[in-house]
Amino acid sequence: MSFKSSFPIALLAMFGTGFAQSVDGSKYNNPTAGPPASYFAAATTIPVAALQTAAAKASTAAQSATYPINGDSGAKKVTIHSDWSNFSEGAAFVWVADMDVDCDGIDYKCKGNPDGQAETNFGALAAYEVPFIVIPDKFGTKYASVLPGNNIGAVICNGKMFYGIYGDTDGDSPQVIGEASWLMARTCFPNDDLNGNAGHGAADVTYILFTGKDAVLPSSALNKNYITNFTTLRSMGDKLMSSLAKSLNLSGGTTTPPSGSCSWAGHCAGASCSDENDCSDDLTGEERWADDALQESAETGVYANPSRINYIHHHSEHFKFDGPHILAPSPQRTPFLFQAGTSSAGVAFGAKHAEGIFVSAPLPHILASRIKAIFNEAARVGHEHVDARVHSTINTLSYQSSDVPSWTPRNIGKRISIGGAGPIPVGSASTVADFLEEWVRVADLDGLDIGYVQTPE
Ligand SMILES: *[C@@H]1O[C@H](CO)[C@@H](O)[C@H](O)[C@H]1NC(C)=O
Ligand SMILES: *[C@@H]1O[C@H](CO)[C@@H](O)[C@H](O)[C@H]1NC(C)=O
Ligand SMILES: *[C@@H]1O[C@H](CO)[C@@H](O)[C@H](O)[C@H]1NC(C)=O
Repeated sequence: MSFKSSFPIALLAMFGTGFAQSVDGSKYNNPTAGPPASYFAAATTIPVAALQTAAAKASTAAQSATYPINGDSGAKKVTIHSDWSNFSEGAAFVWVADMDVDCDGIDYKCKGNPDGQAETNFGALAAYEVPFIVIPDKFGTKYASVLPGNNIGAVICNGKMFYGIYGDTDGDSPQVIGEASWLMARTCFPNDDLNGNAGHGAADVTYILFTGKDAVLPSSALNKNYITNFTTLRSMGDKLMSSLAKSLNLSGGTTTPPSGSCSWAGHCAGASCSDENDCSDDLTGEERWADDALQESAETGVYANPSRINYIHHHSEHFKFDGPHILAPSPQRTPFLFQAGTSSAGVAFGAKHAEGIFVSAPLPHILASRIKAIFNEAARVGHEHVDARVHSTINTLSYQSSDVPSWTPRNIGKRISIGGAGPIPVGSASTVADFLEEWVRVADLDGLDIGYVQTPE
């Protein structure tokens, strides 16, 4: 028994992957048992994150290049870019869109696809077996001379890159962008049960499509229905992608990559780093959150689009960090430092670095001398931003008895239980206004922070 079951596994191991990836396509023509992702995944040397970042920055529109991502009125529109149309060993179009599922070709009766067609543009591909990319028909026609069909392409989805071919066009009305075969879509998003009627809706998939005859998968590697040699697809994809990365000065291309971990997207991109820690001083000034990263959509429940947020990879002597910045950028796009300035350490730090300082004291003349000390310190260290921005905490204005009790620990405790140690003005509106004016005048305050007395407010 054990001999019989282990024998075929040993055989497979001996003859290696070359055989495994040259396939009888019909054996993989199955909605749930298509070719494994490893057959068309990019090599680990390809700098996927850096390419994704670079793709998001492409800005030169090709001709006839803007299409909605779906047929709904007001759907997001996406433009195909030609920034990469002239790198030394190839050319490519690039765009970022959603991913609808195409089953046209021999698997047109796939789930959720009542209106499928039995043919694809350059054959009758098997959507369960072929990772193919679909482009709007108008675009395919416009660029037919450089896109003869079966051109090598790639998608970056879920942080991974997979190769495919340009296999079909979309002729809907309106023509839409962001579409790939059943196999590609379900390999990208394996847990989402994507089908003909349920695509990946977020426009966070990067598409790269290589142009020209040298980028066409040869007939030795595919027939009318199937890819027959995935090794050819992968080796052509890796070669084209490496030379693209190289031309963009991204590491992982065929040039020597920078040493250490300087190659990550959004940091040190394009810079040369002498060692791993070099990166900490070598920010390229790129935005960590792209302008469209923050979505805050109550309708969809989507707060932010992760593919539009660059990771920070900070490695310095005392601090290592790899991950996204967890806060959305401030509207002014620079951090606003609001520092506590009552302790001597707070005064020293705030006077040197802060844009605003908050302080508190029971009486305005006590605050006055502290604020003077902050201004003096700021002037001494030459920090001009801090003046005119000192705030004091005032507790929520409330009507209370103005009888002041004797200051026993119990009474002090009772008093500060209402939102802290700030003053509590009591009286009519004009009494409270006079009170606030007096604090501003005596203490030279620039603003007041109104404390809360209960949570939630
Ligand atoms: C790419 O190069 C070719 C030949 O050098 C030139 O004709 C074409 O205009 C270039 N395309 C772009 C988009 O720069
Ligand atoms: C598959 O493609 C690879 C790379 O192009 C090639 O070396 C190999 O001979 C091909 N296999 C078959 C069975 O054609
Ligand atoms: C890549 O680096 C070379 C040499 O430093 C430079 O001439 C070229 O403009 C760079 N290309 C890009 C896309 O940054």
